[in-house]
Amino acid sequence: MIETSASTKGVRQMGRPVNGAGALALTYIAAMVLLPAIAFADTGALFREKGCAACHGADGSHPVSPDYPVIAGQNQAYLLRQMKDIRDGVRSNGLSTVMRATVTGVSDEDFGRIAEWLAQK
Ligand code: HEC
Repeated sequence: MIETSASTKGVRQMGRPVNGAGALALTYIAAMVLLPAIAFADTGALFREKGCAACHGADGSHPVSPDYPVIAGQNQAYLLRQMKDIRDGVRSNGLSTVMRATVTGVSDEDFGRIAEWLAQK
């Protein structure tokens, strides 16, 4: 009788023989496709939770006022720098003081996730 590994037996019992490498590749592909989508869905929630959507619109591209900026699709590094500068008072021109009060408690890490998410749009 030919020995089979426990994992291969497990897969065979499900009725479709799939070798270990094939199953691993499928898992990898599924993870590559699904994980970024899940991460970005969460960041959309973070964007709303931190109050950003109230002024910049749910996806950053439809601000509530014509003198508020569209921030979706902007460069990631630029977005991150502006967010931190506005929060820290380094940037205080224009209407940035309107935003500062809401974002004083937002962490660098959360800004980083939001900047990456916005730049993908
Ligand atoms: C109360 C309204 C308000 C809220 C809440 C708000 N913003 Fe803003 N935001 C503004 C306004 C207004 C400006 C433009 C400032 C100016 O005129 O210089 C701005 C500017 C920016 C900029 C710079 C855009 C550029 O082109 O330079 C970024 C990036 C940004 N906001 C991201 C965010 C993020 C991320 C959040 C949530 C954590 C947020 N904002 C919350 C109103 C808001």
